[in-house]
Amino acid sequence: MSDLLAWSTDLHLNFVDEEAGRTFARAVNTARPRAFVITGDTAESRSLAACLGWLAEEIDAPVYFVLGNHDFYRDAIPPVRALAAGLSATHPGLVYASAQPAVALAPGVGLVGVDGWGDARLGDALRSEVRLNDFRLIAELQGLDHWGLIARLKALGDAEAASLAPRLEAALAEFTSVLVLTHVPPFAEACWHEGAPSAPDWMPFFTCKAVGDVLLAAAARHPDRRIRVLCGHTHSPGEVRLRDNLEVWTGGARYGHPAFQLLPVEF
Ligand SMILES: [Fe+2]
Repeated sequence: MSDLLAWSTDLHLNFVDEEAGRTFARAVNTARPRAFVITGDTAESRSLAACLGWLAEEIDAPVYFVLGNHDFYRDAIPPVRALAAGLSATHPGLVYASAQPAVALAPGVGLVGVDGWGDARLGDALRSEVRLNDFRLIAELQGLDHWGLIARLKALGDAEAASLAPRLEAALAEFTSVLVLTHVPPFAEACWHEGAPSAPDWMPFFTCKAVGDVLLAAAARHPDRRIRVLCGHTHSPGEVRLRDNLEVWTGGARYGHPAFQLLPVEF
């Protein structure tokens, strides 16, 4: 078995046709990874099942995924999460990691997932004039004034933190190294935009501080464990070490050009 993971983020497979999607999946399979991990924005709600199906059918390794904001477009959050959990239950080897306890990738190495949400806490949400498509294409974010939107985003971030905290704690009790999959960068330092941190008006919607706080607390409680976070959302790559035992890799992406990278399973 290979000692490598294949990792993709922000594939947006709804922007390519089925042949291109399956060709991409076969390229991943050719690398013979131990697992294929996806950190969100695979497609949109109406295309998610088909696109994940291409991946599950073509790739022999287990496929672990979390959902990103685009995956909820044109629907609401609970039904898309239910769809993802249903796909996970019906496709062998396809795992919605946000709805599962930690799983073992290798001896001593575990994986846990959480979708994450831009929670309007970092940067300057109050003065930001950024209006994402999220705010008109995701049911929970529609029709809110600016204050209402910020409150809703904070609540969504808090729910993600609450989902991650106990599963991460259990993972750190069981594994020496824990890989965390999430869509939204959990720290300002990991919110890369073309090689620099995102601007204060974009930062609130491209970081999930609540999840970051869970990660920092866990890293402090377990100095003998290592945590590596994989995330995406900004489409700009970068790596940052927050603590001796906590690092965040943000993956790059281009619309219409699905790509993956290989990294060692063990760290
Ligand atoms: Fe995203």
